[in-house]
Formats: sequence, C-alpha cells, structure tokens
Amino acid sequence: MTEADLIMHRCDELGEISSHTDFLERVHLSPEHARVNALVAKWMVEAGLETWQDAAGNQCGRLEGTTPGLPALLLGSHTDTVSDAGRYDGMLGVLLAIAVAARIRASGTRPPFALEVISFSAEEGSRFGMALLGSRALAGSWDDSWWELEDKDGTTLREASIQFGLDPADLLSSSRSPGDYIGYIEAHIEQGPILDDADRRLAVVTSIAGARRFALTMRGHAGHAGGTPYDRRRDALVGASELVIEVERLSKEHEAIGTVGHLEAFPGGINVVPGLVEFTLDLRAEHDDRRDECLRLIFRAAHEIAQRRKLEFAAEEIYRADAVVCDPALQSAIAAGIATTGDKHPLALWSRAGHDGMAVASLTPIAMLFIRCQGGVSHHPDESVGAADVAAALDALETAVLTIATSRVDVSA
Ligand code: HGY
Ligand code: MN
Ligand code: MN
Repeated sequence: MTEADLIMHRCDELGEISSHTDFLERVHLSPEHARVNALVAKWMVEAGLETWQDAAGNQCGRLEGTTPGLPALLLGSHTDTVSDAGRYDGMLGVLLAIAVAARIRASGTRPPFALEVISFSAEEGSRFGMALLGSRALAGSWDDSWWELEDKDGTTLREASIQFGLDPADLLSSSRSPGDYIGYIEAHIEQGPILDDADRRLAVVTSIAGARRFALTMRGHAGHAGGTPYDRRRDALVGASELVIEVERLSKEHEAIGTVGHLEAFPGGINVVPGLVEFTLDLRAEHDDRRDECLRLIFRAAHEIAQRRKLEFAAEEIYRADAVVCDPALQSAIAAGIATTGDKHPLALWSRAGHDGMAVASLTPIAMLFIRCQGGVSHHPDESVGAADVAAALDALETAVLTIATSRVDVSA
C-alpha cells in the first residue's frame, strides 16, 4: 500500500466513526470525537510523535527538531464534520501532516525546528454554533461566554467538556505562545471547483475569506390559510423568502458569498399562514469591507421588506472571523513544494471556505496548501479526492517543510 493509499484508507476509517449509521456526522466533544482522537493519537505514535490531548480536546503530536524544545512548525487541520459530511474535509489535512512527520522522522535528518501536528476539533461549529473553538483555544482567543453555548439538546459547552473528561478551568493551559511556533501550514481540499476546472492538483492559498454568521427572524402573524385575505396577511415566510432572494442578488452584485443554510417556518401547519420564520445567514468575501458593505445592504433590504409587509425583522450575530492573509514566505515554500510535483507555476487562490488558520493567524504566520476535490463538491458525502492528488500533496507538503528548514525561513521574525 502506498503512503497515499494508506492516507485514503485512513480517511475511510475515520469516515466510519459517525454518530449516525446512514451518514457522517462527528461533532465536538462527542463519543465519536473521543474515538477519532484515540485513533489519530495511535497513528501519531506510529509516526514517532509524542502525543497529548490538550485541554480544549485537540489531539496533538510533536517531533523534536535538531535539539529538544525548539519552536515548532505546526501542521494539521480538523476532524470534526458538518452533518452528512464528506470524509476528506479536515481529515485529509491531519493525515497528510502525520505522513509528513513520519517521512521526516524516517529520513533521520531533523529540521532546525520541531514539528507539531494538531487535529483540531470544533472547526465547523456544528454542535454549539461557534466555529474554530479548538483553534481559538490554542490561539488564546477564547471567550468565556462560549461556555454557556448550548447544543440542540440544551447541553452547554461547559457540561459537554466535563462529560468529555476536560476541565473548563484548565482550558487556558491549551493556549500557546507565539514563541512556541515558527508558522502553521494546513493542507485542505479546496471545497470549490477552481482546481478541478483548471485540471490542476494543488494550489497555494493567498488568503482565507472572513465570514459572519447570523440567526435571523422574520415575525408576522399566523392566520387561517383560507380565511385570511392577502391584504390582511403578515406572512413571515413570504417575507423571509423575499429576503433569501435578495441575499443571493446582493451577494452576486458585491462579490460576496451569502448563503441561507437553514430556514424553519412556524407554526408549520399546512393550513396556517406562517407567523414566524427562523433562518440563518452565512456571509463571506475575500475582503472584509466588501462583506460588510453587502451585509449593510442585506439588512437594509430586510427592513424594507419587513416594513412593506408589516413584519418585524431581527438579526443576532452568532459568529465572526475576519479574513486573514497567508504569510508570503510560507506561501513561497508551498509553491516550491508544488513545483517539485511538476507544476512549475502553481495556481494561487483565496479560500472561499473558512479554516482553523483564521484563528491560528493571531498566534503565528499561516499558510495553506489546497488539494483538488472532484467537481469541487464538499460538505456532502460525494466529496472525493484522487490518490494521485493525495500523493502529490504529500510530496509538496514535505518539500515545503524541507524548504523552510533549508532556507531557515524564520517566518516568525
Ligand atoms: O464553513 C466553512 O467555510 C468551513 O468549511 N468550516
Ligand atoms: Mn468544512
Ligand atoms: Mn474544513
């Protein structure tokens, strides 16, 4: 079995660890999270890493450099998933990082820095609505109000952490200092069609789009579906639907990416005019000012629709992570890595998807290596990658690490 085949096989193994039998879902601090951490820890040990689980539930591993205790180059990604997920979003990056560490250890030549590998949890934010919890804990950008976040069963993040065997009072011990690292590199599937359309395997990431997420409500008045004349209706669903169309129109006009991923009408009877709609907004763009201008226009449209239809519109921001730029020196190392795979002029893309690097960037310089996924499909069970692309990514990531070692690119300077 080649290294790439082993990585693909391990993605399949992780893909079987799910809280549902008929689709993949693995959320923060779940029994499945614990099982995945144990399996990733086993693979880290086999690669020769010292391992530990930090106080936030991230699974960590470390390979010393030329001398013990050196600052580390951090490699990794996440192993939590959305609901009905694919098996490569996050997991592929963790397994590539472990495989690179194994190669470097087997080479017998240690770099002038340590290598740390991390399997972040709660990148998606699926359970508690707040993304990047694991990486924000590492970066020391934790907000204690998050302990009271509740999942769909009413369990708080604090309760779930204790049930998982973590001590919330100990969380700060998981946060690291800038001096601990020289940089962070994450390998990740593109989660878009650009590489596949261009028939390229890999790309360098220039920046990660910033995102803001909101819980929205449109409130009207429930009524009889037959007896309520149109001119007396305060139909929350028609109002929300108008806004959903405006989100798409305004996003396209302002080079932003707006998505309404969840919408529920209440009371939900087939013969009842909906009096309340709860829905969500995920809005992102390459540049934060463009995102925020689009948001202003979306909210302006929302209030115009509400006024015209005698509805009440409300928005609560539940998540915000601003755009981050990838470090030029680390980008060059990744481009050098891609060049050794035969692609002498690698594509450079900004990431439309969010990643843990948005949190880690406050701690140390970051960069990402993108890997083609078929059709750009992601956050879906049809997510797929080719073994040849995985093999190329492994060579590129290893070369990037060795390039940093050779040129002693001290990106933290
Ligand atoms: O939502 C995102 O962009 C990422 O996949 N969590
Ligand atoms: Mn994702
Ligand atoms: Mn991801």
